[in-house]
Amino acid sequence: MKEIKQFDVIILGGGLAGIYTALTISSSLHVGLFVKDAIERGSSNLAQGGIAAEVIWDENKIEEHYEDTLRAGSYINDKEATHVLVEEAGKNIERLLSLGVEFDKNADGTLVTTLEGGHRSRRILHAGGDDTGAHIMQNLRDALAQRKNIDVYEDEMAIEILHNNNKALGVIVINQQNEEVYVLGNKIVLATGGIGGIYKKSTNEKIACGDGIAMAHRAGVRIKNMEFVQFHPTGFYIEDQIGKTFLISEAVRGEGGILKNIEGVRFMEKYDKERMELAPRDVVSQAIHREMFDTWSDHVYLDITHKSKDYLVKRFPTIYQHCLDNGIDISKDYIPVAPVEHFLCGGIDTDVCGHTSMENLYAIGECANTGVHGANRLASNSLLECIVFGGRVADEINQQKDTFGKIDVVLPDMVFTHKKYNFKDIRVEIRDVMSKYVFIVRKEEDLLLAKKLLTKHYNNLKKINVFSRYYYETINMVTVALLIIEQALARKESVGCHFRLD
Ligand code: SIN
Repeated sequence: MKEIKQFDVIILGGGLAGIYTALTISSSLHVGLFVKDAIERGSSNLAQGGIAAEVIWDENKIEEHYEDTLRAGSYINDKEATHVLVEEAGKNIERLLSLGVEFDKNADGTLVTTLEGGHRSRRILHAGGDDTGAHIMQNLRDALAQRKNIDVYEDEMAIEILHNNNKALGVIVINQQNEEVYVLGNKIVLATGGIGGIYKKSTNEKIACGDGIAMAHRAGVRIKNMEFVQFHPTGFYIEDQIGKTFLISEAVRGEGGILKNIEGVRFMEKYDKERMELAPRDVVSQAIHREMFDTWSDHVYLDITHKSKDYLVKRFPTIYQHCLDNGIDISKDYIPVAPVEHFLCGGIDTDVCGHTSMENLYAIGECANTGVHGANRLASNSLLECIVFGGRVADEINQQKDTFGKIDVVLPDMVFTHKKYNFKDIRVEIRDVMSKYVFIVRKEEDLLLAKKLLTKHYNNLKKINVFSRYYYETINMVTVALLIIEQALARKESVGCHFRLD
């Protein structure tokens, strides 16, 4: 007998996009929120810099945010979606405040703002200094705990979308007891985050395996712009360290941090004379990559020693302490940094209301391709994207709630094998291949080699259908890696994060 659950709305993912959407959905609807790990482990919790938003309606300022977003994205952003992003920022920041989120404030009670790369003005709100994501997420989890209509399932992983005639009907979940649960819903929202787990070093947790994107792809949903993987210029460098990398926020450059090569020479002037350290991330990461190559080294430095210790401890408490724990006093020492995987600009293709190419299936946050980032995301626009499009999805669901009813579905007979395989070698190889051949600088021959190596694993994994989180994470990782490679091969020109050496 198959276990079946039914909700009005199913949300997959416990980051900002998932929780904000759940909290914005009417409390008269029954929401099931599924998170494959502990709810505190998502990438939103790690966001340092902040959330870009013009909170006071000023057409010139909003237009400037729009222009900065397009400029960072090499002007291939979706214009309509980008207008929505910047224009609906204020309204959604208000909603966040009403849900109990507390941003850092000046003595007069106004919100403090900072600057990051690619922004022409100080429009980035932050919380807890450089601990914005953790603060926002804690406030929202507190609000979630008060909501009786939302059932949260942690450590329960969705593995397949149930659909019929291009209409989503639910998902299959592996529950905590390692059993199969068929979860049905009138609306299904994918908010499953990014893909950092397919690279050796990422600012994301290793659990970011592109699950939602791979699952949607298996269900025939359109996926776009996967070649635009953003590398953050300043991951904290520790020799031979792999896995989750501590981020040195772009806000450190926003407050005057200077990049220097291993010889102590400032170099950004060679790459972007006008914007220097505050050029968008694609430009800065590619500049650092080149500088590391030219100086035969695997890192550069970020110098913020001209600021006082008092200022640094107050403005960047998390970064200050983390560096100190690793032997670097940032008020006296240069910070060793190197680019690491940070954010996927593309993903499950959506329109401005979060609709995917499948009826009743929405995608929001990092797993979605709303088009707002174009070829490279502007700093601190990712949390903004989560709330603006999550808010839109919730508003639409609220408007349609009277049409919801019991879901009739003939449950598929999935045949699973039950094995304890952990596929460790394959995961290690995926990360090696992606970090070597599908990194900041790309060439056709490297991409073809990566495709060949990973297709072999994909074909082998497809032959078995193991009912386990390990299996699904691994096949999801190979799937998204191949989507990145194929879309990178198809884009012959260099644009934004996609830099073709050939
Ligand atoms: C940062 O603080 O540098 C990260 C913020 C972002 O990814 O937009």
